[in-house]
This record gives sequence, structure tokens and C-alpha cells, in this order.
Amino acid sequence: MAYQYVNKQEALLAKVKGKTGKISDKTHEEHLKLYTGYVNKTNAILKEIEELQKTLDPANAAQANQIFSATRSLKVEYSFALGGVINHEIYFNVLGGKGGPPTGKVAALIEKSFGSYDLFKKDLKATGISARGWAWTVYNPDTGLLFNHLGDAQNSYLVWGAKPILALDTYEHAYYADFFTARGGYIDEFLNVIDWDAVNGYLA
Ligand SMILES: [Fe+2]
Repeated sequence: MAYQYVNKQEALLAKVKGKTGKISDKTHEEHLKLYTGYVNKTNAILKEIEELQKTLDPANAAQANQIFSATRSLKVEYSFALGGVINHEIYFNVLGGKGGPPTGKVAALIEKSFGSYDLFKKDLKATGISARGWAWTVYNPDTGLLFNHLGDAQNSYLVWGAKPILALDTYEHAYYADFFTARGGYIDEFLNVIDWDAVNGYLA
């Protein structure tokens, strides 16, 4: 039986509702419809992979081929769909807090990695403005440091072993209804309502 991801839409909305300042509840409600789409497609792909495996023959080009094949389509889009699930769950989970200077473990890691919270904010904002989809603050266990990664899609420019602790959605659906094209203003407000306890939870 294929693994099936649980849709956490209601819990994620409850986490942010009425607690994110100028990023409106309506934006979150619409945004979570997109998240549900990612959960449903991830689960559908897992079922299709299970079905394909029942007759799988690597010598069959319809099933296994680098130009076009069932395995290629399913595996490529699985990465995109599951990325959409994970990214949005982190995004909503780290919102709905008091913002301000970081606390706990992440405060020390920001100091060690960037020298100051001010530089961390500037780097995250620049990364978010330069991205076509996502900016992620990621803990790299090899260096023991944080790094703000840039993503143009749900599954782009990532590296193995790095753990995301904060996700900033920069697709226009995340802010356009509230900020129009002022993405910088949206990122400032995102930082104003960060839940640092939730961010620290990813470092536990
Ligand atoms: Fe999104």
C-alpha cells in the first residue's frame, strides 16, 4: 500500500489565522488550497508508482527512458509535488509568531553564521527578492552553519543533508493580493510575524 501524506490544511490555517498582520487570512485560505493540491498529487503519484511497479520492466522504453517514460514523469513530478507539501508546511508552521529578534538555538546560529540578525535579515530579503519561488534558511550539519538557499521551484537548487528550518514563499500567490508587486514589503512583514519557537523546533 503506497504511503499517503496527511493533509494538514486545517491545522496550518489555525496556526496563522489572525496572526500575520498585513498578510491576510484570505491570502492564507486561498494559498492552502494550493497546498492541498500538492498533497493530493503527491499521494496520487505514489499510488501510480506502486501500480507501475506491478508490471515494471526496465527494458520497456515506455516505462523507463530518459527522454520520455512513465518512470521519468512520475519521479520528476514526485519531487515537485512533495516539495510543495514540505515547503508549505514549513512556511505556515513558522508564521503566526511575534517576530522581532530570534530566540533560543536559532539566535546563536544566526550570530555564528551571519554575524548579526540584521545581516541575516538582509541576506534573506535579498535571496527572497532574487528567487522565483522560495527562499529557505537551512542548517548544514557539515558546516554547523545556516545558509539562505534560493529556489525557483518547489524542488530546485537543493543539496543533500541540509535541513530547512524556515521557508519563505515568494510566489506571487503568497502576497500579491495584500502587497501587489511590493515583494520587499511582504518579506518585511513575514519577518515581523515569524514564530521563532517553531523555527527552533526544526533544530531540536
Ligand atoms: Fe505557495
